[in-house]
Amino acid sequence: MKLDTRILPDIDALSRAALEELLSDLKNAIKQRGRGAIALSGGHTPEKMYSLWAATEKYRSETDWNRVHLFWGDERYVPQDDPLSNYRMARETLIDLVPIPAANVHPMLADYPQPEKAAESYEAEMRKFFGAETPAFDLQLMGLGPEGHTASLFPGSPALEETERWVVAVEAPATPPRRLTLTPVVLNSARNTFFLVSGADKREIIAAIRKEPDSGSSQYPAARLRPVGRVLWFLDEAAAGT
Ligand code: 6PG
Repeated sequence: MKLDTRILPDIDALSRAALEELLSDLKNAIKQRGRGAIALSGGHTPEKMYSLWAATEKYRSETDWNRVHLFWGDERYVPQDDPLSNYRMARETLIDLVPIPAANVHPMLADYPQPEKAAESYEAEMRKFFGAETPAFDLQLMGLGPEGHTASLFPGSPALEETERWVVAVEAPATPPRRLTLTPVVLNSARNTFFLVSGADKREIIAAIRKEPDSGSSQYPAARLRPVGRVLWFLDEAAAGT
């Protein structure tokens, strides 16, 4: 499939380029709809981008924090202060360091013994914000795993076939295995999708995705998503293989 790529020399340049594009999308969303809703990804790749957002005066001050809402595309089913928590990573690198109102931060909580209940509860939280219609995030940040997973949608996962629920609990072949993830119902509705992919260990999967047919039937979850909006792939040269 053809990827709309932005290829940057390294993770620093990638983070800056993605952040500048994010801020521009956010401004448009706020201008058009009065608020900007972002689904954050976990993993390590976005850390630099979150830190840059928090630490750079220009980026901090051009963000209308009262109108920004942060959600998550997926979460590991661990307490919020666990080192594996995607929320914790975003809190430490961004949220605690910027003046975003607490009510604008919508973490996926691992609050129930059964993750399915937590998935239902996050869907209810999303309905409060978006209403009954399928949510259209102004921007979703996505990572890419070496076997093609994105969010916590792994190859062969039944969650890939979900047609109604917005959030599901999954068992993933990863650490930790229990996770919550948005489903393609939501992920295919985003206005903007940025994949952030860095490092030589992602080169093979990027090459493999480029060879996939553009039919939405790929074995790789990242290549199966068909968001209605714009999809950009921010790659560093190591991942792009250039
Ligand atoms: C997670 C993720 C996951 C991640 C990719 C890439 O919670 O594990 O959201 O989909 O984005 O595994 O992770 P890295 O950025 O660490 O390579």
